[in-house]
Amino acid sequence: MRRLKTGLLAFAAAVSMILTVGVSPVAQAGEWPTDKECKKVAKDADSVIKGWCVAVNRRGGNCLACHQAMVSPWPEGFPTGGNIAPPLVAMKARYPNREDLRAQIWDPTVKNPNTSMPPFGKHKLISEQDIDNLVDWLLSI
Ligand code: HEC
Repeated sequence: MRRLKTGLLAFAAAVSMILTVGVSPVAQAGEWPTDKECKKVAKDADSVIKGWCVAVNRRGGNCLACHQAMVSPWPEGFPTGGNIAPPLVAMKARYPNREDLRAQIWDPTVKNPNTSMPPFGKHKLISEQDIDNLVDWLLSI
């Protein structure tokens, strides 16, 4: 009997661990809103979610017009990104210095004068706050 109890406790602990891990911000089901759902995202929402919303907003960053973004799970029925630019993936590993990533969004023409990527900050296409939120989001994927 005692053994059974210990076994059950271990099982319960394992289940609760899985549940806790399952609630980590990026893995939660329905975590990434579609562009329509983004309109209902609260003003005090997490900067990571706000950054994603800037990226998917066609009148905002519109990053998905050119890039695919490796978020999971992908929002159901939401069109995947374009493939004329490198996929936005493993950003934290590739951009250990946050400022480098911000600079790429602020003015990509510094690195590549012929790039098709718009200079979002330099031309004030989106706000500085939007760029900060974008960087927060990118560093989370
Ligand atoms: C019109 C197409 C287009 C749009 C829109 C666009 N990009 Fe890009 N982006 C590119 C291209 C093309 C490159 C490849 C490098 C280059 O040409 O300078 C690039 C490169 C990058 C890079 C560096 C490459 C890498 O994987 O590290 C980052 C980061 C990036 N884009 C982020 C963004 C974000 C964030 C947005 C939205 C705010 C965005 N891009 C919108 C075309 C685009």
